[in-house]
Amino acid sequence: MTDYFTETGSAETVNARISPDADARLAAVMASLVRHLHAFVKDVTLTEAEWETAIAFLTRTGQMCSDTRQEFILLSDVLGVSMLVDAVNNRKPAGSTPSTVFGPFHVDGVPERKMGANISLDGVGEPCLFRGRVVDLEGRPIAGATVDVWSDNADGFYDVQQPDTQPQHNNRGIFVTGADGRYWFTGIKPVSYPIPDDGPVGEMLGHLGRHPWRPAHMHFLVSAPGYDRLITHTFVAGDDYLASDAVFGVKAPLIVDFARTDAGPEAGPETPLWQADYDFVLPPA
Ligand code: BEZ
Ligand code: FE
Repeated sequence: MTDYFTETGSAETVNARISPDADARLAAVMASLVRHLHAFVKDVTLTEAEWETAIAFLTRTGQMCSDTRQEFILLSDVLGVSMLVDAVNNRKPAGSTPSTVFGPFHVDGVPERKMGANISLDGVGEPCLFRGRVVDLEGRPIAGATVDVWSDNADGFYDVQQPDTQPQHNNRGIFVTGADGRYWFTGIKPVSYPIPDDGPVGEMLGHLGRHPWRPAHMHFLVSAPGYDRLITHTFVAGDDYLASDAVFGVKAPLIVDFARTDAGPEAGPETPLWQADYDFVLPPA
């Protein structure tokens, strides 16, 4: 019997068209997506005007995308989807450092710097010493681990957001651990900043009464042969936005006390005023 479209059997009718020859994973993912989408439309009894608004919103989201702006990832981030994809794919053994959202501001091809180097190329901001160790689950140092770091500048912008005013690779660097697994470098104490909110995602946040701010953080991508790659941040304890991060990236073990050092201003502009100690624990791959 022909299975014509009805309200009650809508999802099953659509999914019945998937060929048995289709890739099995694709078929399973699409069938689930259709079931959830149809259930959503029924749940809210989506009006035709709302459907048109949604189509226009998604169209503008696509039109906002460029080589340097990924509005769809931003949408995924503010809806908590990026953190959920991260969660279901990074169920790490107890004791491992938790992962968090990657974000759109990582850059490939950043130079490897000498351990201890200053990544604040514009010299603006409050100097901060970042240091710690990369270790395995037993606390043994991991030699040859790559520690790729990036943060915003003192005004809350990444270098790629201000190519005309910030030096290239400002507040970025790659460090490789030695036999003791230690890393250390000077940067600035990061500041909280709003995610790009001049597009449809920012507009949506506004309509929902949500703010676009992220609590201050330093990004880390830590990798070593034979270990799980770790994408994470350290967050500045006490930040106003820890409990309301626009992209839900905060996890309690990632909040770090940025301690004031003893150095006074007379110690010179590059002398760290702050220090943030943090060890990264990588499980085996
Ligand atoms: C970031 O931390 O760089 C970031 C993460 C998600 C969206 C926007 C920015
Ligand atoms: Fe960030």
